[in-house]
Amino acid sequence: MARPRLFWVLAASYLVVVLLCTVSLGWYAIRSVHNFAVDNTEKELTLRAQLVERQLGSSLVQWHPRDLQEFLRHLGEASTTRYTIVGPDGQVLADSQSDPSAMENHGDRPEVREALAGRTGTATRMSPTLRVRETYVAVPLFRHGEVAAVIRAAVPLTDVNRAVRSLYIHVAVSAGIIAVVAAALGLYLSRRLSLRMRLIRDGAARLAAGDFHHTIESSRTQEFGAVAESLNAMARQLDQKIRAISDQKNEREAILSSMVEGVVAVDTDERVITMNRAAAALLGVDPSLAQRRSIQEVVRNPDLQRLVGQALAHDEPVEEEILLRTPAGDRFLQVNGSSLRDTDGRGIGAIAVLNDVTRLKALERMRREFVANVSHEIKTPVTAIKGFAETLLDGASDDPGAAQRFLRIIVGQADRLALIVEDLLALSSVEQAKEGDAIELREAGMGEVLQAAVEVCEPKALAKGITVRLDASPVGVAGINPPLLEQAVANLIDNAVKYSPEGSTVEVTQRLVAGEVVICVRDEGIGIAREHLPHLFERFYRVDKARSRAVGGTGLGLAIVKHIAEAHHGRVSVESTPGKGSVFCIHLPAVTVAGRA
Ligand SMILES: Nc1ncnc2c1ncn2[C@@H]1O[C@H](COP(=O)(O)OP(=O)(O)OP(=O)(O)O)[C@@H](O)[C@H]1O
Ligand SMILES: [Mg+2]
Repeated sequence: MARPRLFWVLAASYLVVVLLCTVSLGWYAIRSVHNFAVDNTEKELTLRAQLVERQLGSSLVQWHPRDLQEFLRHLGEASTTRYTIVGPDGQVLADSQSDPSAMENHGDRPEVREALAGRTGTATRMSPTLRVRETYVAVPLFRHGEVAAVIRAAVPLTDVNRAVRSLYIHVAVSAGIIAVVAAALGLYLSRRLSLRMRLIRDGAARLAAGDFHHTIESSRTQEFGAVAESLNAMARQLDQKIRAISDQKNEREAILSSMVEGVVAVDTDERVITMNRAAAALLGVDPSLAQRRSIQEVVRNPDLQRLVGQALAHDEPVEEEILLRTPAGDRFLQVNGSSLRDTDGRGIGAIAVLNDVTRLKALERMRREFVANVSHEIKTPVTAIKGFAETLLDGASDDPGAAQRFLRIIVGQADRLALIVEDLLALSSVEQAKEGDAIELREAGMGEVLQAAVEVCEPKALAKGITVRLDASPVGVAGINPPLLEQAVANLIDNAVKYSPEGSTVEVTQRLVAGEVVICVRDEGIGIAREHLPHLFERFYRVDKARSRAVGGTGLGLAIVKHIAEAHHGRVSVESTPGKGSVFCIHLPAVTVAGRA
């Protein structure tokens, strides 16, 4: 059902009240005037009747009926009043306007009955004799304490009626005018009220729609002014609160998205409430699509699903390491799950924090492998030394030839052991210095360093009939630590000599390529198969263990080269063709270019 407009309700009520007031007031006024006129008439009639009583004199009997009739007619004409004299038996003795003999007994008339009882009687009714509405007043005429007759005076009510009728018209006209004015005023006031109401309603509607900057115009009237101000105050408060809430939300999101750890929160139905960038990246999920979807749909890893379920079901935090298979390779996640509670302690979901520990795991594995490798490398010479020493103790020393041979082997193995320890120490000192940025670099050309490295390797090369060719023409200056760089280049030349056939050539060059000073060692040796290339620079990595060991390699040389290059803010590279030869290069950032410096 359509609700009526306030404007019409107000206007209609206003009109009804005004009409009710004018009608009742008019009615009351007319009644009062009418009563007043009737009262007045009655008083007047009483006086006239009493006057007649006095004029009639001491005895009614003295009057001849005809004289009495005549006297009343005169009196009646003079005062435009009808007079009637009624005997104690109700018989009409004389009447100023009618023939008494033709008139019926008046003893039953209420005013006459009152007068016969000794009191003044009044009445207003239709006169059956004259057929007009008349007001009657009857007074008793006492003789010797007895009611001897009743004198009745009467006037028609026509005058009063006329006066009342004209009053009716006046009142009706005034009421009409008042009603019209009141209606106009009422319409005007209602219109103003409803306009103000509409203003407030529109303001409230804009508020409900989220427009908190709209200000509702205040009003002169107290109530509307108060409502408008309250609404405006509410809008300001809501605006502040909403801004505070969105600020908090933004802060929380900023914190979550800048976290390195992945965070996934679910509600009690295991639907995702929050998933930060890190988690989305780890799990390979689009965070905008994850929102409100079930964790089973979003995360395809059963272990993680189970862990979230456990965190939801139990109060205690759960911690687990999870293997995540991704297209980019396996990742290890350390996941901490715990239930989420609101301020009342009610469970509202669970949160899982994901830590990518893949690198840590790899480092740990490397460390374990390193220790195992070191132990293994050391064990071989130690076992040999112990074996030959025991053989000597068991009597082999009696044979001078054998004793000589065994002792030489023992010395050889001890050398190898020393070499390993030396290499390990060199490696760890370069590593430590690199981490602490403690390596001193100075700007210099490569000439001297390369020359020194070649000289170190010369005897070994000569022994194998290998020619080492050096191109030492200056190309540029880089920040270098000469002893370390010399060691790195010597390691490369050592390898080239070690893994090349007799009589071949090793070439040491320097070039300037794209802002880098590149030192390369080229050989015509056995070369390295493609699959080994990515691992060559790992510690203890050897392509052919038996062969390397035979030529006295520990597998640490290239790892040292790599660390030295990195300590110079540079890098290493390798190219190789099995059977043809290899090129190992050290790339260092150039400071100045030769010829231009
Ligand atoms: N120029 C090369 N030609 C062929 N293979 C090479 C060459 N340089 C290195 N390699 C291979 O790479 C492996 C690792 O070299 P690296 O220098 O680290 O160890 P190593 O020479 O065996 O021992 P060392 O610690 O005494 O240098 C070698 O064992 C070898 O198999
Ligand atoms: Mg080597």
